[in-house]
Amino acid sequence: MLFIGSICAIIASGFVYRNFRESCSFIIDRFLCEIKYMLLAVKEITYDWIYMKNNKNDCSAQTGRIAIVTGGSRGIGFEVVKMFLELDMEVIIGLFTKYSSLLFVSEIYYCNIFYNLRYIFFSACRTPSFGEKAILQIRESGISTGQAKVYKLDNASLESVRQFAANIKKDYTQIHILVNNAGVMFCPYEETVDGFEQQWAVNYLSHFLLTALLLPLLKAGGLPQQSSRIVNVTSCAHLLGTINFNDINNKKKFITGYAYAQSKLAQETFSKKLQDLLTEKQFHVQTYSVHPGVVLTELFSYTYVWKLKLLFEHFFKTPRQGAISVAYAAVNKAVENHGGVYISNCRPSKTHPDALNLSIQQKLLELSLQQVQLNDFFQHVQ
Ligand SMILES: NC(=O)c1ccc[n+]([C@@H]2O[C@H](COP(=O)([O-])OP(=O)(O)OC[C@H]3O[C@@H](n4cnc5c(N)ncnc54)[C@H](OP(=O)(O)O)[C@@H]3O)[C@@H](O)[C@H]2O)c1
Repeated sequence: MLFIGSICAIIASGFVYRNFRESCSFIIDRFLCEIKYMLLAVKEITYDWIYMKNNKNDCSAQTGRIAIVTGGSRGIGFEVVKMFLELDMEVIIGLFTKYSSLLFVSEIYYCNIFYNLRYIFFSACRTPSFGEKAILQIRESGISTGQAKVYKLDNASLESVRQFAANIKKDYTQIHILVNNAGVMFCPYEETVDGFEQQWAVNYLSHFLLTALLLPLLKAGGLPQQSSRIVNVTSCAHLLGTINFNDINNKKKFITGYAYAQSKLAQETFSKKLQDLLTEKQFHVQTYSVHPGVVLTELFSYTYVWKLKLLFEHFFKTPRQGAISVAYAAVNKAVENHGGVYISNCRPSKTHPDALNLSIQQKLLELSLQQVQLNDFFQHVQ
């Protein structure tokens, strides 16, 4: 009995020790991740201050140009939509709401009615959407130029991305600008309906698929003297990322900060690869990636920054300031034919070395094609 008891005690203490070591190393890694983010934020906020004067987008009207902005209902995307409307463009807002069957395409003049209907019927909705309210707000702020529309898009579902692209293709034969902006940050581990970690799916994979599906329209909109543009809203956080090809969901050791960084590095890496592919094909389509700055938005809702926003608003950019670099990449003549560049504060910036690594680019392309079930990125282009 004593012998069996001792063996059990040794095995049990082995388990306890192993779990203790694993949880210690996990806690240390999480702590290090937070420290890295803090240092990066300090550096980037300093840059935002230094280059504040650079952060401007002088541009003439863009009448006749059609743009799509994912996640255009609030934050940086909302300000990008406003800027595009000020430039007299037609803007399609990709809008995420579980309750948008009534609002499938809500033309601006019907917005008010639809918004109120939604309010009456769905006032208890858990994820209210602000797209239609956002358009009203824009008009009430005095911007009367341009045209705005809302189409349903849930970046957490590849089927929704396919449906969104199909709806756009029904209504348009060409588009000129695609801003892949929708994003989530530092959320707890959750898998989407397709089985992908949500930051990977929302920030990167859905936009990869959307770009492939809308490429025929972007190609049709591009001219030799004025290319169509794809703008991927990445983040300086990509500098902290690595792409974990062996466990893309990072399920084995989930540290949400690294998962966010991975999704942003993937966006950055694919931007570079895509530009090479587009150049090879001689399409008049250019792709840009943009870090908007450190901007106080609801993106920080999972962090202490959001709780202390009255303090942080003195250091962070406003959403409008954050939107400037995105709009710059989308419309400014200064970057025409400079596709592939990573822009921060309206100037080219240094990117992660992995984003420039050709074998990582290729591996990412192959993995992404497989995940969205495409044989070839250009299979939808005639
Ligand atoms: N804020 C910063 O400091 C910062 C820095 C670097 C990069 N960025 C990047 O900038 C982009 C915009 O961020 P933000 O700061 O403006 O954040 P935000 O205010 O939280 O806005 C995020 C937008 O993404 C949309 N979105 C979230 N999940 C979605 C889903 N499943 N399907 C469709 N849309 C979804 C939201 O739509 P709903 O309103 O329907 O939820 C919202 O419009 C993100 O890609 C972010 O990574 C931000």
